[in-house]
Amino acid sequence: MMALTLSGVGKTYIIENKQVPAVSDISLTVETGRFVTIVGRSGCGKTTLLRLIAGLEPKSCGTMGFNPPNAKIGLVFQEPRLMPWLTVENNMAFALLQEQDHDQVQQTVQHYLKMLHLEDFRKAYPAQISGGMAQRTALGRALCYNPDIILMDEPLGALDAFTRASLQKELVNIFLLAKKTILFVTHDVDEAVLLGQQVIVMEGGRILRDFSVPLTYPRDTASKEFYEIRTQVLQAIMDR
Ligand SMILES: Nc1ncnc2c1ncn2[C@@H]1O[C@H](COP(=O)(O)OP(=O)(O)OP(=O)(O)O)[C@@H](O)[C@H]1O
Ligand SMILES: [Mg+2]
Repeated sequence: MMALTLSGVGKTYIIENKQVPAVSDISLTVETGRFVTIVGRSGCGKTTLLRLIAGLEPKSCGTMGFNPPNAKIGLVFQEPRLMPWLTVENNMAFALLQEQDHDQVQQTVQHYLKMLHLEDFRKAYPAQISGGMAQRTALGRALCYNPDIILMDEPLGALDAFTRASLQKELVNIFLLAKKTILFVTHDVDEAVLLGQQVIVMEGGRILRDFSVPLTYPRDTASKEFYEIRTQVLQAIMDR
C-alpha cells in the first residue's frame, strides 16, 4: 500500500520577476510503514519538497495523493520549536489539548514519554532541558498527534555528535515500535544510509537517484555492506 504518491510535482518561486525553480518534476511513491531518507547538498530542494508534502506551500504543478486521503501529517524541524510556557508533557500533548477524553490523552502522552525516556522530565520546562531532550519532546509531540506520515527536516542537525548518534539509534527503535511512515531529510549521507530503507538523492531540485537499502536494523556502519551503499550514495552526489 502506498502512503504517498507524487507525480511531476514542481515548485517555482518568483524572485524579482524571475522564476526560480526550487523543485522540478518530482515523481515519487512511498510505501506505508517505510522509513525514507532524502539526502542532497544545501539548496537542492529538500525543505521545499517537505513543505509541499505538508501543505505549507502550494505546488506550482503536478499531483500529490495520500492514503488515507485525509492523512494526518506530523512535522519535526531542525529546532524543537517548543512552547516555552508549557511543560514537556504539555508540549507533547499540544495537538490533543482540544480532546475531550483526558484519560486517553494522558495515556498517549505517558506512552511516548516512556518510549522517549522523558518520564523524569515530564514537568520540566523547555529552558530546563538539554537540546537532545528538547528534540525528543518535539518528536513526542509529533507522535502523540498519531500522524499517518511524519516529515522530519534535519531533526538531528543541531545536536552534538554523541547526542545525535544516540538519537539516531532511538529513532530506529521508535520506527520499529511505532511503525510510522517517515520521510527524513538530512544532508549527511551516513545518517541517510543508517536510517533509511529507501534513500532518495536530490540535486538541483530533482530526484537524481532512488536507492533501496536492503540492510536490517540496527545497522553496522563498520560493515562492508554499509560502506558499499554509503559509497554509492556519496558517489551519486559527488559525480554531479
Ligand atoms: N520562500 C522562498 N522564496 C524563494 N526561494 C526559495 C524559498 N524557499 C526556498 N527557496 C529556494 O529554493 C531552493 C531550494 O531551497 P530549500 O530550502 O528547499 O533547499 P534545502 O535542500 O532544504 O537546503 P538546506 O540543506 O540548506 O536546508 C533554493 O534555491 C532556495 O533559494
Ligand atoms: Mg533545508
